[in-house]
Amino acid sequence: MTAAASWPRLEGLAYGGDYNPEQWPRETWDDDVRLMREAGVNIVSVGIFSWAMLEPEEGVYDFAWMDDLLDLLHANGIAADLGTPSVSPPAWFFHRYPDARVTDKDGTVMGFGSRGMASHASPEYREAIARMAGALAERYGDHPAVVMWHIHNEYGVPVAEDFGPRAVASWRRWLEERYGSLDALNAAWGTAFWGQRYGAWEHVVAPAATPTIVNPAMKLDWARFTDDQLRECFVVERDAIRAHADQPITTNFMAHQSWNTDLWKWAELVDVVSDDHYLWSPDPDAHVGLALSADLTRSVAGGKPWILMEHSTSAVNWQGRNTAKRPGEMRRNALTHLGRGADAIMFFQWRASRSGAEKFHSAMLPHAGASSRVFREVVELGGHLQDAAQVRGSVVEADVAVLYDWESLWAQDLEWRPSDDVQFRERMRAFYERLWRDGVTVDFAHPDQDLSRYRLVVAPASYLLTASSAANLTRYVENGGTLLVNFFSAIVDEHDAVHEGGFVAPLRDALGLTVEEFLPLREGETAEVRWTRGAEAVLPSDVWQEDIALAGAEVVAENATGPGAGKPAVTRNEHGEGVGWYVGTRLDVHALKTVFDAVYADAGVEPSGLPETLEVVTRHGAAEDFVVAVNHGDDAARLPVAGTDLLTGAETEGELEVPGGGVAVVRTSRESGGEEV
Ligand code: GLA
Repeated sequence: MTAAASWPRLEGLAYGGDYNPEQWPRETWDDDVRLMREAGVNIVSVGIFSWAMLEPEEGVYDFAWMDDLLDLLHANGIAADLGTPSVSPPAWFFHRYPDARVTDKDGTVMGFGSRGMASHASPEYREAIARMAGALAERYGDHPAVVMWHIHNEYGVPVAEDFGPRAVASWRRWLEERYGSLDALNAAWGTAFWGQRYGAWEHVVAPAATPTIVNPAMKLDWARFTDDQLRECFVVERDAIRAHADQPITTNFMAHQSWNTDLWKWAELVDVVSDDHYLWSPDPDAHVGLALSADLTRSVAGGKPWILMEHSTSAVNWQGRNTAKRPGEMRRNALTHLGRGADAIMFFQWRASRSGAEKFHSAMLPHAGASSRVFREVVELGGHLQDAAQVRGSVVEADVAVLYDWESLWAQDLEWRPSDDVQFRERMRAFYERLWRDGVTVDFAHPDQDLSRYRLVVAPASYLLTASSAANLTRYVENGGTLLVNFFSAIVDEHDAVHEGGFVAPLRDALGLTVEEFLPLREGETAEVRWTRGAEAVLPSDVWQEDIALAGAEVVAENATGPGAGKPAVTRNEHGEGVGWYVGTRLDVHALKTVFDAVYADAGVEPSGLPETLEVVTRHGAAEDFVVAVNHGDDAARLPVAGTDLLTGAETEGELEVPGGGVAVVRTSRESGGEEV
């Protein structure tokens, strides 16, 4: 078997969505492919929830309808991203293998009648998914429609953890392998505390229901274990497919919306990274979260083009209030993903379902049919993607890295932290949003990664930072980098144990300080920070202050009020060839502007100077660049760029007017001076 390609065999950019034709009579399929062609759809994901149709009884396969479907798609020039249906085993499976059901932390066994009910620890489940993936690959590995494999669906949701007896047995084996001895386990988990010492492996429990909080180091390992098990299940299917087929294999991630999966590790297992993203309705600036998710996806993909596997044409159905997208919003969303590295724009789903849990979810072809606003916009977007086909394969480059580590997220989200108001995702978003508003393109990076190519590294939420990661960051500063660290970082090691030497001690040299005591604010309490570097300013703050013990850092702002009044709030430390900045209080995205402007000056990073509502990212091709502009404002905005807008064909000499709510994809030659905005 030859090595798999890292991109599906397709012309141009990919456009399409999940397609579940088994929900519709056969004659509807003909309508579907006709309308897909009208919309410029060139790929659909099929079979993701089709196990019960593909194997109606154990060992009895029915491939006739899938044969028909793939032939129909191929005859119409539409490729298939063929799903394996492991996220939704059939009723007969759970009837026959009741132990394959997931048990939740309170001991409740999850029954059939939904999706995602199978236990990663079930040998019957693992056997069955290998069989099914192998059977599909054997039958369709050479089918001309099949250009990619899509294993499972969104690992980790709706359930990841299993507290059933088989999972607990795997957990003990996993721990034995990780720690080798009970002494090592007891030391790592700090079981001397509350008398939790284990004297036999069979006494080790899972972190299920307990009278008060569970040992946090155990919970952190449980998160690692669960993620490992899910990855094992992926590999079972991947290998079964690989025995018969060589198309690229993917599984759809959820970037910033995923909790259970460490995507740095997952990305190493797939041939091509794909991601799902949905706007969060309560957030009026949800497009900033979208951009974050896209940048994170590109970063775990190692900068290579990636697939937007799912987003929505309009409303979803699973939030409290499912707001519809405004006219033009879908196009802005799709173009943001494109600008940030996606070479495939896909949706959940092609045709809205009449029945079932998701009938109020939007689709490319809504219940209202082809003569609807949404479908017209779907057709228009398909045309844009054809016009912008040359963008394919170009890459995004960034001078700034934001540190993102799922282990730190897991650890920080545990109970009994100094303040409920300190949240990994909230800080990640605030720091990212500052960079976004300043028009600074960023990558995300793991704190162990080689960071030397970045001018600036930002750590908004590095609560768990190992000694070796901290050494990596310190070296980065020594060698001339600029590092910006937010409070509640470098607190614990990989076992959620406080670093020796106290809070922030591993970054003492880089930042010129440690932290003696946390001084969280009461709920709703606000304070002020007096900024004294350059122009003086008073900035609002809340949630957090602390007692910083300076060890060489210069104070550039101090708390004017609050429990830490008179103590440092923001510091700057020259170390080696570089600079380490530290923010010891919570500043919102607007107050962070003062900090970032000073940090940019140290790092030699230049904000774009464009209006905050004009989102611009450049993709670099072999000989040309593509400037993707998305105007989130109501008013037209001027973009300094020379080249051709691929969406309209308009030539621009030095400035393009992007209409309010509009988009542009401008091809510029590097020599024309339109290279950077
Ligand atoms: C997820 C799933 C899809 C669908 C959508 C709805 O992304 O992968 O099957 O449920 O959510 O938004």
